[in-house]
Amino acid sequence: MAPRERLRKNIVKAGKLAGKTTKKVRQRAADRGFDEKLPTTLGDKLAPPRSLEDVQAELDSLVGLDSVKEQVATQIAFLQVQDRRREHGLDDIATSRHLVFKGNPGTGKTTVARLLAEMYGSIGLLEKGHLVEVDRAGLVGKYVGHTASKTNKAAKRAHGGVLFIDEAYALSPPGIQTNDFGAEAIETLIKRMEDNRDKLVVVVAGYPRLMEKFLLSNPGLRSRFAREITFPDYSTSELVQITAKIAEDLDFHLAPGCEKALEKIFRRATRNEAFGNARYARNLFEQALNRQAVRLSTGNVAGLDKNAVTEITVADLEAAVKVLDERPQTKGDAPAGKLRRI
Ligand SMILES: Nc1ncnc2c1ncn2[C@@H]1O[C@H](COP(=O)(O)OP(=O)(O)OP(=O)(O)O)[C@@H](O)[C@H]1O
Ligand SMILES: [Mg+2]
Repeated sequence: MAPRERLRKNIVKAGKLAGKTTKKVRQRAADRGFDEKLPTTLGDKLAPPRSLEDVQAELDSLVGLDSVKEQVATQIAFLQVQDRRREHGLDDIATSRHLVFKGNPGTGKTTVARLLAEMYGSIGLLEKGHLVEVDRAGLVGKYVGHTASKTNKAAKRAHGGVLFIDEAYALSPPGIQTNDFGAEAIETLIKRMEDNRDKLVVVVAGYPRLMEKFLLSNPGLRSRFAREITFPDYSTSELVQITAKIAEDLDFHLAPGCEKALEKIFRRATRNEAFGNARYARNLFEQALNRQAVRLSTGNVAGLDKNAVTEITVADLEAAVKVLDERPQTKGDAPAGKLRRI
């Protein structure tokens, strides 16, 4: 192979590897809620954009979410056809690319937003297709004039990609607020959504009940969004499948009996607005990994075979749920035991 060709191949290979690593780092960072603070990495620069088919395959591989997948497909198809119309010199139908995601914690909103951004990028509707995730604190300032500049900065970081505003309803707190700059952030956003409509896609997300109030908080807000996509809570069997998928993605496997044990755990978990859905499944699995490590460390660690280090047992899961039960409740992380349904 000619040196030049070998160099080109190596660059593509390095790009793919860096892209994969970046994706993993970002996923873990998003799970811990500090995605927006991550700088652009080498992976972002080197990784070749994935094809629409590849991103679509990842979306399809998510458990459940049938109505969400269908709405995303419709939105992509609609925008592609509008784009073709424009290329034929036909009139632009007033289209918006901004979306509302309504769903409880852990229902897959951030995951789907990231894939959607990538899809927009791969079909050329956005230049980069990256996702910048912010919440109220990332948009609202502390003094007059601070909010507009903070919101504009966030929008600028998201140029060429998606600005994902989690818990967007927090921008419009209930009641009459004299000292709140949330409304200013909304005004600024609306302006950016119009002025930079070709460069920026805004996705606002949050609990369904509170998002309704948010969308009504400013008369010009709701009409700026193309669609409102609802992310339903996962069923018990979907949560079992999600846990199995998380295990598989991380090169683990569930021992016989684990699916039944998981079913029991998820069935008895309290399903209120604070229930963490897939995030709860992930937290449970991460705790099970700790339990597995403790279990294995009592024996001859150097002699552990591949099966031993990749297997999660019923006992690991049961010990894990106990730890979660004892932890103080945070968003997307409902205790399963203490508040259990009878
Ligand atoms: N349908 C699914 N299939 C497989 N894994 C999923 C699915 N939905 C979510 N997950 C996993 O669960 C975790 C939480 O998902 P995600 O962060 O997208 O939820 P969210 O709705 O944004 O939650 P929050 O409102 O708490 O921010 C992620 O690790 C994600 O990979
Ligand atoms: Mg999220």
